[in-house]
Amino acid sequence: VSEPVRYSRVDDIGLITIDNPPVNALGVAVRRGLLECLQTGLEDDAARALVLIGAGRTFPAGADIREFDQQPQSPSLPDVVAGLEASGKLLIAAIHGTALGGGMEITLGCDYRIAAPDARMGLPEVNLGLLPGAGGTQRLPRLAGVRPALDIAVNGRPVGVSRLQDMGVVDRVATQDLQADALAYARELAAADAPRRPLGELAPAAPDEAAFDEFEQLVARKKRGYEAPAVIIEAVRTATQTAFADGMVRERELFVERRNSAQAAAQRYIFFAERKAGKMPDIPADASARDIRTAAVIGAGTMGTGIAITLADAGLPVTLLEQDSEALARGRDKLERHYRGQVDKQRMNAATADQRLASITPTTDYVALADVDLVIEAVFEDMDVKREVFAQLDRHCRADAILGTNTSTLDVGAIAEQTQRPENVVGLHFFSPAHIMRLVEIVRASATGDVAMKTAAALVKRIGKIGVPVGVCYGFVGNRILHKRQAQAVNLVTAGATPEQVDRVLYEFGMPMGPLAMWDMAGLDISYKAREHVRAHDPSNAPPRNWVDEVVEAGRLGQKTDGGVFDYDGRKPVPSPATAQHIESFRARQGITPRDIDDAEVRERCLYVMVNEACRILDEGIAARPSDIDVVWINGYGFPRYRGGPMHWADRVGLADILERIRHFHDTTGDPDWAPAPLLERLVAEGRQLGDLN
Ligand code: 3HC
Ligand code: NAI
Repeated sequence: VSEPVRYSRVDDIGLITIDNPPVNALGVAVRRGLLECLQTGLEDDAARALVLIGAGRTFPAGADIREFDQQPQSPSLPDVVAGLEASGKLLIAAIHGTALGGGMEITLGCDYRIAAPDARMGLPEVNLGLLPGAGGTQRLPRLAGVRPALDIAVNGRPVGVSRLQDMGVVDRVATQDLQADALAYARELAAADAPRRPLGELAPAAPDEAAFDEFEQLVARKKRGYEAPAVIIEAVRTATQTAFADGMVRERELFVERRNSAQAAAQRYIFFAERKAGKMPDIPADASARDIRTAAVIGAGTMGTGIAITLADAGLPVTLLEQDSEALARGRDKLERHYRGQVDKQRMNAATADQRLASITPTTDYVALADVDLVIEAVFEDMDVKREVFAQLDRHCRADAILGTNTSTLDVGAIAEQTQRPENVVGLHFFSPAHIMRLVEIVRASATGDVAMKTAAALVKRIGKIGVPVGVCYGFVGNRILHKRQAQAVNLVTAGATPEQVDRVLYEFGMPMGPLAMWDMAGLDISYKAREHVRAHDPSNAPPRNWVDEVVEAGRLGQKTDGGVFDYDGRKPVPSPATAQHIESFRARQGITPRDIDDAEVRERCLYVMVNEACRILDEGIAARPSDIDVVWINGYGFPRYRGGPMHWADRVGLADILERIRHFHDTTGDPDWAPAPLLERLVAEGRQLGDLN
């Protein structure tokens, strides 16, 4: 077994190399190795200075996150950084890749920092429900000032080298080979007798009340419900008030408290859940993804344009096909407006925007698709239209091209049957707006082959999204669960709650908006049409009429008609007297006397029904593991990340308690949605948790 940290000498400079693939995480063996190699370097009389560098793709990307669920082992990371800082020789950090969290903190224990031009550094602990715990909150404000420290630690986004230079974090940028440049830099510093620069010996950072105020407001506005950001602000404030040693004690107390918190456990869990989601246990390792060099999108509507943007932004040339030149011109306008907006908002320079736009080639002719590697269809949600499109694709595309459909409700298997190559047809269910939402459900029909699944998963990863493989059923994983929740929201109002109450309770739980406001945003007419379709064609499965049907029939379709369930003050939902009337008359006609419904019941009914449906989905094999459902709900619907997703959350609440309430709602309402899912009953009987199935 090779040592994760090694010492060597290059002429008169000692070199400490961290080699712990894939990301040089700072697990216990690395921490021990670092202190041992430091000692060796200090004792090596021929070494005038020491350079610390990472092997492979990156400088350490942080603490080993897996260790946070175990007993802490010494030496701790703060002790390692203190050891580096107390070194009797000049110590230079040579940084490439992503020096994150504890990785960045290690560099702050060094005297000088040299970085590769494309290196990035950051303190992403906040994304794990933590604060930097190895001196980051005390050393960075002393080095760079309060505002940059808050920016890096509260936002948790890595920053590039030019900003790091402005902040005084990076002293020099490598021009050739990082290691050679770092050794030369160390030699130069040693020759000039450059001073050591222990940040821990500096006085407290200058206070900056304006920055503290600004970040407190930002946290209140943008990080609602998250505990860590405010704690980070507190820790940075300490760095302006107390001696370094006292600040370190405070940081440690706060860190331990955060590490043991439910939010941090949930955010760690989802970190690994997102990385596991793309792994498909049922697909043999030797099935390899096809190389995708060119793509096509069919339909330049809402979804098609968003998907084209996403592909173009990932550097793929895209052919965009529409049914006629007018529709094509409308799509082209949308794309132009998008890229102009990016330039106006200074997210992109004009040259890049032009180049992206130029990489999307509009056409109305299938012949242009003869050589593309992958197609994503996003035409009207109508089986006849999709059939026709897939017949054309089958005729014109290469036999090995992967054909994806963005359908949200149609049977992917039936679409695949329109082709001679059903093994190459896969669902790629993007969420709206497609260039912003990170989730893609990768739908596997019975005929979909391993190669198509692997290729789809690789493509989704490449365009910066999170893919979750799912099976075929109505609504797949996300929308199938959503429909059950929406039905409860409607029923709660029928029984006596107000729309405002239902939405407030779920907003307070941490959802970005209430279920009914969300419906107004999507448009009430879409699901209304679906209900009417079933009522007309499949009366035995007809959903009973509800008050939302009457809201729609009165012409209130949601935000697009300036009112639906709610009225709108700008984009802010406000109670609607018109809707209240519809609800009242609906109840009267059904002979329902409204009762008082407490917030707990709203919460339980809207959330437990999701847990119940998710258990059915797992039993049917539509989702491979509970954590995939959590990834879907966090990335597709804004379920609060600090709760870990509906499955992780359900385990924390307790499955036995949830089942008891589900039985109660079944007994009192007779609603089949409340029939307890067999998997939930089994888990409770066996005393197990959903997490045991991950
Ligand atoms: N600990 C343990 N495993 C880690 C890890 C970490 N810090 N960072 C990444 N990994 C693992 C991933 O789980 C994945 O494992 P797998 O191959 O078995 O699925 C593998 O490394 C590669 O990771 P990615 O798939 O994410 O690779 P990318 O190239 O897409 O991204 C990265 C690399 C930007 C480094 C990204 O992995 C990342 O953001 N990692 C987390 C960084 C982080 O949060 N650091 C702070 C940790 S907390 C801390 O340092 C506390 C300190 O203040 C005391
Ligand atoms: P849209 O109505 O905005 O766009 C559809 C486009 O397809 C139109 O521009 C139309 O001209 C074009 N089109 C129709 N028939 C065509 C044909 N034969 N050949 C080429 N182009 C044709 O619809 P939207 O919302 O973009 O939906 C597209 C698909 O994405 C549907 O399957 C929908 O279910 C799915 N979807 C929609 C989501 C949403 O929130 N809008 C979310 C996820 C999936």
